[in-house]
Amino acid sequence: MRIFSGIQPTGNIHIGNYSGAIKQWIDLQDKNECLFCVVDLHAITTPYDPETFQKMCMEKAIVYLAAGIDPEKAIIFLQSSVKEHSELCWLLNTVTPLGELYRMTQYKEKSQKHKENAGILNYPVLMAADILLYDTEVVPVGEDQKQHVELAKDIARRFNSYFGETFTVPKVQILKTGARVMSLSDPTKKMSKSDDEDSYISLFDSPEKIRKKISRAVTDTGKEIKYDKKNKPGISNLLSIYSIFSEKKIEEIEKEMKDKSYKDLKDDLASLLTEKLEPFRRKKEELSKREIYVQEILKKGAERARVMAEEKMEEVRKKVGLQNN
Ligand code: AMP
Ligand code: TRP
Repeated sequence: MRIFSGIQPTGNIHIGNYSGAIKQWIDLQDKNECLFCVVDLHAITTPYDPETFQKMCMEKAIVYLAAGIDPEKAIIFLQSSVKEHSELCWLLNTVTPLGELYRMTQYKEKSQKHKENAGILNYPVLMAADILLYDTEVVPVGEDQKQHVELAKDIARRFNSYFGETFTVPKVQILKTGARVMSLSDPTKKMSKSDDEDSYISLFDSPEKIRKKISRAVTDTGKEIKYDKKNKPGISNLLSIYSIFSEKKIEEIEKEMKDKSYKDLKDDLASLLTEKLEPFRRKKEELSKREIYVQEILKKGAERARVMAEEKMEEVRKKVGLQNN
């Protein structure tokens, strides 16, 4: 199957990004044709620093590799190095009703938080272009991206009905556990890299930082360690994170923790995360010294993606009545 997914280069990659997206990518890369993209054009729709931007993009490619994406198996590349993403986005804009863009949850959130611009509104159209350009069959993402992938499906269907069968209609793939990791400082909100550093665990936090952040994580009233999202959102979130990294079922963890305190759960979770994240940290340090190697991977990735994108755009231009030269 053809797989496409991406992460924005701004902010630190956290355990939510890992469990919602990257963990799936690692499992999928063995048996599928995968494209994993650093979506730099998406990131510039909200405030960022142009001076450090390229460095951040490079760092995210290192994150993909450190987390276990294998460049021999998957195509890793920067979105802006394949110009067809922007071209297809423009064409898809013409078949996307404005009303559908205005009702996107992330648009509503972002346009409240930042000064509004057309890029924030058109963000999901560019995402649809990313996906449809490669005739993607499966899009592995976290829960928050489901609505955007649904829109990409609608855009594909609409385009196909106007201009004839052109795009594969993709499917979204969301895991049962880990698709929505919550913030450590407010467990009723999604863990987000644009929030305060104490609210998330980065994939590369030091053992000291992990322990400190977990010990400060908001818990609930009562003493019992029980998964109950409504009444115990803090403890439920810690149990979910424990489950993701131990690969144990939540019921099993509840049983093990039956006579233990909230503090015991936090201590055990901090030790588990330290152990599981240590290899990522080591690999990242090693790769940070090999910039040319990483640049070469991105260059080769872009070349491979470009071949596929150019071929598809030729077909698309023909379908919509534009010239192809
Ligand atoms: P972003 O950080 O918005 O670029 O998201 C990159 C990927 O991580 C997307 O597939 C998101 O759905 C996923 N993701 C982001 N935040 C979380 C979270 N708190 N829990 C699970 N998945 C997440
Ligand atoms: N919008 C996604 C996010 O913020 C990132 C993204 C851009 C993406 N293009 C994509 C994800 C295509 C999957 C497929 O998480």
